[in-house]
Amino acid sequence: MPSVSPSLSAAMAQAATAVTETMECILPKSDFAEQKLFDAMRYSVLAGGKRLRPFLLLSTAQIYGVDEDCALRAAAALECVHCYSLVHDDLPAMDDSELRRGQPTTHIRFDEATAILAGDALLTIAFEILSDPRTHEDPKIRCALVASLARASGANGMVGGQMLDLIAEDTNFDIGAITRLQRMKTGELIACATEMGGLLGKASPQHLNALRAYAHDLGLAFQIIDDLLDAEGTAEETGKPVGRDEEAGKATFVTILGHDRARQQAKLLCEQATQHLSLFDGRAKNLEEVARFVVDRKA
Ligand code: IPE
Ligand code: IPE
Ligand code: MG
Ligand code: MG
Ligand code: MG
Repeated sequence: MPSVSPSLSAAMAQAATAVTETMECILPKSDFAEQKLFDAMRYSVLAGGKRLRPFLLLSTAQIYGVDEDCALRAAAALECVHCYSLVHDDLPAMDDSELRRGQPTTHIRFDEATAILAGDALLTIAFEILSDPRTHEDPKIRCALVASLARASGANGMVGGQMLDLIAEDTNFDIGAITRLQRMKTGELIACATEMGGLLGKASPQHLNALRAYAHDLGLAFQIIDDLLDAEGTAEETGKPVGRDEEAGKATFVTILGHDRARQQAKLLCEQATQHLSLFDGRAKNLEEVARFVVDRKA
């Protein structure tokens, strides 16, 4: 697999800026008494992050020539859900983390109740964005986007995976159970990124299946690397505390397979992911290249 090209890095940086600008415009400000809520929402979303899910969505939408403003709105909605998941993941009742994207976590910067409410409001605004005609003129497409994001983020997706993740702290999960957990907590939102890009582009069922298969493998690899970074990385590089999975006694691919085999597994999954893209005949270059980024990343 070739290494990450300068053109991919530039494309990712450009997408990150564009989606941040879109969220900056969409996320409301307020002078009312509840202003703190709006400040906490903006704080949780606007400061950094790799914006991988938006990049996947935008890159998929580009294959189909989707209007960029529409794709950016969908990408912003998805990133709002991702950021909400991080705010709640960092709460004392969950991972109890004080650092995120190199900054104090939302409950540290504000307070716990405000962080819970900011997460709630980010989740709901995502669906407000998707159901707005500016996201797509066709109500059937808007409805499909809403359904896709709801499925991926709910009890059978990210939230269900987070439940399993807590259970993994005191249960001996085998590799099959860990795979299911990771696919749910991380893989589903990543798969939703390519699915939403495909839905905006009215992709055929065959294309949607290929995109989903690609992103599922990529998502699992992404979480394996996240677990490796928790075990091997530094807080300076990752912008979040490290060593916490071991401290919590959490079963991950790294604890079950060991470092080398976990990394090997992530590489294999990324190679497998790109193979699902063969039917695009080279029109999915960004998606192919981002698989290398997922394995090589240090943050
Ligand atoms: C962190 O996601 C949580 C996981 C699902 C592993 P990212 O690594 O994409 O976090 P940001 O958005 O770049 O901060
Ligand atoms: C979180 O996984 C996945 C989410 C759904 C938020 P982690 O708990 O490993 O993510 P980090 O390491 O805190 O970013
Ligand atoms: Mg967690
Ligand atoms: Mg965490
Ligand atoms: Mg982690």
